[in-house]
Amino acid sequence: MAVTIKSDREIELMREAGKILAIVHKELEKAIKPGISTKDIDNLGEEIIRSYNCIPSFLNYNGYPASICVSINDEVVHGIPSKERFLMEGDIVSLDAGVIYKGYHSDAARTHGVGEISTQAKKLIEVTRQSFFEGIKYAKEGNHLFEISEAIGRYAESFGYGVVRDLVGHGIGSNLHEDPQIPNFKQRRRGLKLQAGMTLAIEPMINIGRYDVEWLDDDWTVVSEDGSLSAHYENTVLITKGEPELLTMYEE
Ligand code: MF3
Ligand code: CO
Repeated sequence: MAVTIKSDREIELMREAGKILAIVHKELEKAIKPGISTKDIDNLGEEIIRSYNCIPSFLNYNGYPASICVSINDEVVHGIPSKERFLMEGDIVSLDAGVIYKGYHSDAARTHGVGEISTQAKKLIEVTRQSFFEGIKYAKEGNHLFEISEAIGRYAESFGYGVVRDLVGHGIGSNLHEDPQIPNFKQRRRGLKLQAGMTLAIEPMINIGRYDVEWLDDDWTVVSEDGSLSAHYENTVLITKGEPELLTMYEE
């Protein structure tokens, strides 16, 4: 599938999808407390998404059974919410969500601490978030995709962290996953040349330890192989001739 350039109308719809998703994340963050079940987080997220007349894009995607991916500690991504799993003081939790507004997608992830967390955990969350911002310094028409990938990886690895290789970011639009794939580490090829109107979900997944991951028997939950903490940060980004527009972030 070719990489698509979105029309002004499509971009307008993606802005709306993004803004709603930013609100979803803001609301979910407030609900993060010791004792809440991961299913309650999922239910709340689905409720908010539907209240804006949006569809939760993850629900039933390739059989995924929930609207919000909730991944705790060594879980990297795609944790499945459960009535029997509760957040505990000191955990870190990654929330990944996607919405569809009038046929257009947005996709974003945040990692939060539950109550008081260790300095180590705080640093991982902050470095993961910052690695995204290091990457998008290169997200501009005329640059090549590899510059984003390399900047994310270089930054995270400078802290000794493992940059997950088996999962990547992606183009996004009328589909959740479109071309191109967007790795978070150094590439041999320069890859795609960026153009205004491309919309990309850029999503570093970073482990404190080694980068290797494995899949649990539920066939969804990805965990770090060495059991180390993992963080995830993602926004849907519009490429322009100047600064990129972060569609899934906004200030009230
Ligand atoms: N947010 C994931 C991504 O960025 C997609 C989740 S897949 C699902 O690619 F099946 F869990 F929904
Ligand atoms: Co994504």
